[in-house]
Amino acid sequence: PRKIIIDTDPGQDDAVAILLALASPEDLEVLGITAVAGNVPLDLTQKNARKICELAGKTDVPVYVGCDRPLGRDLVTAEHVHGQTGLDGPDLPDPAMPLQDQHAVDFIIDTLRTEAPGTVTLCPLGPLTNIATAFEKAPDIAQRVQQIVLMGGAYFEVGNITPTAEFNIYVDPQAADIVFKSGVDIVVMPLDVTHKALVTKPRNDAFRALGTPCGVAVAQMTDFFERFDKEKYGSAAAPLHDPCVTAYLIRPDIFSGRKVNVVVETQSELTMGMTVTDWWGVTDRPPNALFIGDLDADAFFALLTTRLARL
Ligand code: BDR
Ligand code: CA
Repeated sequence: PRKIIIDTDPGQDDAVAILLALASPEDLEVLGITAVAGNVPLDLTQKNARKICELAGKTDVPVYVGCDRPLGRDLVTAEHVHGQTGLDGPDLPDPAMPLQDQHAVDFIIDTLRTEAPGTVTLCPLGPLTNIATAFEKAPDIAQRVQQIVLMGGAYFEVGNITPTAEFNIYVDPQAADIVFKSGVDIVVMPLDVTHKALVTKPRNDAFRALGTPCGVAVAQMTDFFERFDKEKYGSAAAPLHDPCVTAYLIRPDIFSGRKVNVVVETQSELTMGMTVTDWWGVTDRPPNALFIGDLDADAFFALLTTRLARL
């Protein structure tokens, strides 16, 4: 199995991404979960991360608390999508499992220094504050990362929090800039692909039909999450963004994309956090990321449902 650290701001879709990883020990070994401020403030995201581990029955997975605010800006949150708790929908009990004492950033640094070089993959599902802080504090670790597979950004789909920016990148554009310039092998799940991972009614019914606490909670999460997209965009189904990251690590064959150059806008208030993506190769800037544009949605939901059935 591939060793991963999940860096996250749960978030219903973060929760599903984590559950998929925890349900897939033959493919993924979750070394730790690091919480960051994003969809809701840090106090809630760390709590939600532990709720999800408990829901999965995996209370031995260490959960770390990371950065409570972006590098150079005030925190922007998304209660309008995820609800006041960040995990509205199911009624999950307050977590009893402990938090680790170590700071998330130090856990990321120590793990990359201790594990063999090129054997740890980072999976950011929220703003990139923890990852960028670790890279700034310990410049030796970037070259030890196997890969970063992250959810963030957009090209043809442009933006979801501003006209030109995707939420995770917009919240901490400075951090995203550091990560995209790090030289690490990066795979990006932008809105272009996540907007094709739509939880239609039959797919949601399939989660609920698992009949397990986990299956039912996932159906309730996606039900809640969907309300925003239905009201805002009039769409029939909502995109399941973050699980694209963990699904890619298990089934890269069901995704396709292009190696491109991506630069993050950090100056302009108008287009702050925009992922300026050279899809057509019109500059001579070298590719720094594999930008995923498509997936086999049926295979993706089949994978999710069969794996979640194990929890
Ligand atoms: C991203 O923003 C968050 O609201 C979701 O959890 C996802 O990571 C989508 O833009
Ligand atoms: Ca997220």
